[in-house]
This record gives sequence, C-alpha cells and structure tokens, in this order.
Amino acid sequence: MTYVVNDKCIMCKHTTCVAVCPVDCFYEGPNMLVINPEECIDCGVCEAECPEEAITPDSLDEDGKWKALNEKYSNIWPNIAEEKQPLENYEKYSGEDNKFDKYFDEGTNE
Ligand code: SF4
Ligand code: F3S
Repeated sequence: MTYVVNDKCIMCKHTTCVAVCPVDCFYEGPNMLVINPEECIDCGVCEAECPEEAITPDSLDEDGKWKALNEKYSNIWPNIAEEKQPLENYEKYSGEDNKFDKYFDEGTNE
C-alpha cells in the first residue's frame, strides 16, 4: 500500500504535506505534487495535513489512475522536502472537479 496525491492538488499545491513526511518522498511538478509509491512508508501523516483532501490511501484509488500517475511523475519531477507558498489563486481552484483534464502540466524537464 501507499498513499497517493490526486486531482484535488492540481492548481493548489499547498505543500503542507511535504513538511510532515518522514521520508521526504514528495516530488514537485509545475502545478501538483506526487508521492513515490516505493519510498512511501504508509504512515498516513500527510493525509490529514492537506487542506484540499488531495491525499488518500491507494486502496481508494479504484482504477489505479492516481497511483500510476504518482509512480510515473515521481520518477521524473524533482524531490521537494520543504514547504513553500501555495500556487497563486489557489482559492479559485479549490474544490473544482476534474482539474487534471483542464490544467495538468507535466512540465518539460528538458
Ligand atoms: Fe510520506 Fe507518510 Fe505521506 Fe507516505 S504516507 S507520503 S511516508 S507522510
Ligand atoms: Fe497538494 Fe495537498 Fe500537498 S494540495 S501539495 S497534496 S498539501
């Protein structure tokens, strides 16, 4: 089992989750974070820290979409170990549905 970050993080990126992770297994994309499923020790501490409720156990990710996305991008994006300011205008996007299709940005990292 692992915890995963889902759609609700996109365009918000509060990063309060990062501050509590004992193994620093968050990775940062342009407009969301992901968790590396192989590094996560399933402590669950971050779940309660996210104001968007964007972090869940992967058992709630029924089709595996978010686990696959977390796995993929945690191997591409850089590690983030310190909290920082949320994205500008995060309030505007809080709670909006289907942000992945509208806004997801994988970045270039080239
Ligand atoms: Fe880190 Fe624990 Fe959250 Fe996994 S469940 S990402 S180890 S804080
Ligand atoms: Fe995203 Fe929530 Fe962390 S919005 S950056 S999962 S605190």
